[in-house]
Amino acid sequence: MFVCLGNICRSPLAHAIFENLVSEADLDHLIQVESSGTGAWHEGEPADLRMRKTARRHALTINHRAQRFRRSDCDSFNLLLTMDRQNYEDVLDACIDESQKEKVRMFRDFDPRGPGNVPDPWYGGPEGFEEVWQIVERTCIALLEEIRRELAA
Ligand code: 4NP
Repeated sequence: MFVCLGNICRSPLAHAIFENLVSEADLDHLIQVESSGTGAWHEGEPADLRMRKTARRHALTINHRAQRFRRSDCDSFNLLLTMDRQNYEDVLDACIDESQKEKVRMFRDFDPRGPGNVPDPWYGGPEGFEEVWQIVERTCIALLEEIRRELAA
């Protein structure tokens, strides 16, 4: 599960890109992909139009309705990948024990160009959305490679 703040920009993009990669790799039966937001303001809404337009330019359609991150997600998923440090702290706070906390990672820990936040594009211009695309796409590719190595081991 990919987690950001609103579940309308960054994590829905990761969700859509990663789901596509998993499908292309014929791993749908092994890997379940979801996304959520720590804030509730946008529950039920589609992804941000600017994010959808950026994805369309890269030939990807985002079919999505925002949902709020729940405590039970700490149980339901093996990996909780957070888009920035604030999301990371919020998800960790929701975990009830060490076995749940171990599932929480910063998404960009898998970025071949190095760790950090996926910048929140909400308040900025269109270039911010393209930057998010670039970060999320390369990180999703590296993430799937890592998961495939673990599945093979
Ligand atoms: P996201 O972006 O966390 O990548 O979905 C945001 C969406 C909405 C808001 C903030 C960030 N907001 O303040 O409503």
